[in-house]
Amino acid sequence: MKHWLPSLLIAVQLCAVPVHAIEAPESKVQSTSASQKMNSLVDTLMRKMTLDEKIGQMNLLSIGFDVTGPVVSQGVDEKIKSGLVGGVFNSYTPIAVRKLQQIAVEQSRLKIPLLFGYDVIHGHRTIFPINLGLSCSWDPELIERTARAAAEEASADGLNWTYSPMVDITRDPRWGRVSEGSGEDPYLGSVIAKAMVRGYQGSSYDKPDTVLACVKHYALYGAAEAGRDYNTVDMSPVKMYNDYLPPYKAAVDAGVATVMTSFNDINGVPATANKWLITDVLRKQWGFKGLVATDYTAVNEMVEHGLGDEAKVTELAMNAGVDMDMVGELFVKHGADLVKSGRVSEAQIDAACRRVLEAKYKLGLFDDPYRFISEKRNKEQLMSAEKMELSKEASIKSMVLLKNSNQVLPLSAQTKIAFIGPLVKDKRNLIGSWSGAGDWQKSTDIWQALDTKFGANKFLYAKGCNILDDTALIERLNRDGALLTRDEKTPQDMITEAVQTAKQADVVVAVLGEPCSMSGEASCRSNIGLLENQFELLKALKQTGKPIVLVLMNGRPLTLPWENANIDAILETWFGGTRAGEAIVDTLFGDANPSGKLTMTFPYSVGQIPIYYNAKSTGRPFDEKEKYRSKYLDVSNSPLYPFGYGLSYTTFAYSDLSLSSSTLKPSEALTVTTTVKNTGRYPGVETVQLYVRDLVGSITRPVKELKGFQKVELKPGEEKTISFKLTSDDLRFYDSDLKYAAEPGEFQVFCGTDSNSVKASKFTLVH
Ligand code: BGC
Repeated sequence: MKHWLPSLLIAVQLCAVPVHAIEAPESKVQSTSASQKMNSLVDTLMRKMTLDEKIGQMNLLSIGFDVTGPVVSQGVDEKIKSGLVGGVFNSYTPIAVRKLQQIAVEQSRLKIPLLFGYDVIHGHRTIFPINLGLSCSWDPELIERTARAAAEEASADGLNWTYSPMVDITRDPRWGRVSEGSGEDPYLGSVIAKAMVRGYQGSSYDKPDTVLACVKHYALYGAAEAGRDYNTVDMSPVKMYNDYLPPYKAAVDAGVATVMTSFNDINGVPATANKWLITDVLRKQWGFKGLVATDYTAVNEMVEHGLGDEAKVTELAMNAGVDMDMVGELFVKHGADLVKSGRVSEAQIDAACRRVLEAKYKLGLFDDPYRFISEKRNKEQLMSAEKMELSKEASIKSMVLLKNSNQVLPLSAQTKIAFIGPLVKDKRNLIGSWSGAGDWQKSTDIWQALDTKFGANKFLYAKGCNILDDTALIERLNRDGALLTRDEKTPQDMITEAVQTAKQADVVVAVLGEPCSMSGEASCRSNIGLLENQFELLKALKQTGKPIVLVLMNGRPLTLPWENANIDAILETWFGGTRAGEAIVDTLFGDANPSGKLTMTFPYSVGQIPIYYNAKSTGRPFDEKEKYRSKYLDVSNSPLYPFGYGLSYTTFAYSDLSLSSSTLKPSEALTVTTTVKNTGRYPGVETVQLYVRDLVGSITRPVKELKGFQKVELKPGEEKTISFKLTSDDLRFYDSDLKYAAEPGEFQVFCGTDSNSVKASKFTLVH
């Protein structure tokens, strides 16, 4: 958990000294193109640089009030003065950034400005829902707006680089970091990756409200074995290219400025030493021209991976094509010696240094190193009314209605409702993990939102249980700032009180889930059900016989078989951000209608993991009656809630799936149409999903692949015809030679409300 410790920020006077740190040879470049101008400035500068100064640009340090690893950079000011730092992170606010930038451009020999990075993951000061939640909106335009808003705030807070988007494909909910990404699907993940890059980087680097985006964690971090952080990945190239690499590539195609290597080993070579990955795939195949930074101390960690001593792992990382070493400082420690001994070429260092300088040039830092420092913009942008409104909108659109028997939802304020659970009056967890600059005290909890909307005394309340009762775990999580407490009352007394409260009500709303510190980095779980004490409470509430609505806040798919069988309505709200309380209350009472759809499969049990919709067929597909089939004895193969699933207060009916032709030629497009009707009582938004199955391939193909989606808004009784265009390009995949092409043959096409409930048709791709 990240914390801003303002006490560590050194107050300095705000004196706006315009420093033109580097004199561009203006006369020579005026008439040349922008890139020639940049090259000329960088060439001139690099001619003046010593080897140490060049390697200094490759050094990325953490200022230290906020850490995600065991090491915090020391003596940063002195290192900046000596020209041994290219960028810093974990420091923001105009005052803090100005202080450090001043050291760089006034006290270092070559006056090269610094990059200022930070993990702006789902909002900067105004916090939006966690990324997994945001992805459930299936709304790239909305997601782009949240990234834009985050960039506006971050850049008004002195920052010029965000370590986002995280685009790792995630198919194992035990992994805590699934909360940071967009789920299991490469197509949707790619669409969202592009939207986020566009949002952060805006229309032009020239603008003072842009920040460099950084796509991470390159690569395949989401496939860490056993869902355990930092763990090994061993994967076939075909699977990489078809399933895991597309979102990183999409970010590159969208012009992402920077890439972060991941911690994990890939087929025996950690990503940070992986020349094939960084130089061959990223730079040569994909044409990436920006800078590559490592993750936090990832170079040093390769000693522990067993690749050699510090000098050796530095050599490997440099030669792989890494440009910046995050926190570990091995580049500055060993880089020069490696060059002198010929183990790393000076050309390699020059190329890396150039890329760092180019990033600074593009941001305009050589013209004005203080361009991201503006008290005025800071005041205008941070948590502006518009951004706070966007936070609520995003929160509403991210919620997924998992169950709604007998239309328990929406609630009527005329009934007697008991709100029960440790998260009813909780602000701390609403903003989720990776919300370092977010101020949880400024978020609105459910109880507060109820009070504002209706007057809270209208409702009954009981806490019912602690979020977590396991004292050892509480202690561990609190060491990293979780702020978890246990009530003075005994767990049994709390449950008794909750049951008595529930008995007085017509409906019970139980607000349960995880503390946000149980997802995010280094927060993996082997059991992903409701926490035991919360589960006890829920079972006791069920005994009252009252209708129960379960409102969930959590950072990963949970296993909820009992809940699904026994609870009347389940609303997944994730960690919904600064305005989550109001968004939830509006949704519960029908002022908003849920429209989110899952982007990660919810399993019945941990034993089914990894579980995802776009799997392959075995030679012995599931058959209940036959023994020798691919299945479990104790649980079905199907998930509890499939990818793409999510209900609405209204209902939608699909009909008339039709194709414009039964054949598709490479030069043509096929139109797939379907009619969707709102058959319920409420206006609602449906996400119409298009899937394809390639029935015969040169290699085995997934049973379904998402190829398109559209959101449609329908009033009760209204129907619309939705059409998608499919071309042979949409049918391409990487074959066993990694050739990217569509193969002729038969395809099934499906349209529907989720990856499971779909209507099918067929066409043939001919050559
Ligand atoms: C995480 C990255 C993050 C970095 C800097 C690492 O521990 O894996 O996602 O960007 O820290 O905070």
